[in-house]
Amino acid sequence: MQQTLVIGNWKMHGTLSWSQKIMETLVGELAGISEKVGIAVCPAYIHMETVSRALSKPECFIRFGAQNVHTKEEGAFTGEISATMLSDLGATFVIVGHSERREAGETDKAIAEKFKVTQTNGLVPVLCLGESLVQREHGETEQVVLNQLDAVIFECGIDALSDSIIAYEPIWAIGTGKTASADQAQTVHRCIRDHLAEKNEVVAKTVKIIYGGSVNSTNAKELFDQADIDGGLVGGASLKAEEFISICKIADY
Ligand code: PGA
Repeated sequence: MQQTLVIGNWKMHGTLSWSQKIMETLVGELAGISEKVGIAVCPAYIHMETVSRALSKPECFIRFGAQNVHTKEEGAFTGEISATMLSDLGATFVIVGHSERREAGETDKAIAEKFKVTQTNGLVPVLCLGESLVQREHGETEQVVLNQLDAVIFECGIDALSDSIIAYEPIWAIGTGKTASADQAQTVHRCIRDHLAEKNEVVAKTVKIIYGGSVNSTNAKELFDQADIDGGLVGGASLKAEEFISICKIADY
């Protein structure tokens, strides 16, 4: 079954009580959604245990993930969180290479290492790729996105991509209210899939490629309707329970 995946990226937002409240709402309101939709939220580390408790009932199929991870599994790395710890807590996903982290200096090599350590610990990396506005205006979108993808393939091998999710997130569309048009997004998703197919057709067919960048309940349907868009990585709109619930319901068709 083709599942549409909706992942909320809460970024550095929320309080403990807010996390508790929104999870109660999501668990209640999304209980009847079909298995055609995969749902997850990625809270700040400090809110993760609260979220994990809210999702602990066996019938609850919402999952959770982290927004980042350290490259190493253990050691003297003050202030860091390891994939082992995330796995121990019951996380499913780890967002890797988000543009907000790339902009803060995260290198392709570190991203590939994070991708690898995530998988080694049984978690699913959500690998973010995306171009800036200047790069798009210079016609460099495909080259930039494929270079970011190749950096991970080079370190981890093409087969590693089959147990991962790719999120195409044009930087100019993140948090700006400017969504890529469904056509613009579909073109890049197709290009990513074609590139993977040149290396391994099975991986290209099975990998989920989700879109992120100002996804909301108004544009979700058109985006999810595209042949190569398998869901959304939702930032701002995931902080509003009603919006996130609407997006999940739109994915359930
Ligand atoms: P946005 O963020 O939906 O607020 O644009 C998406 C993301 O950064 O993952």
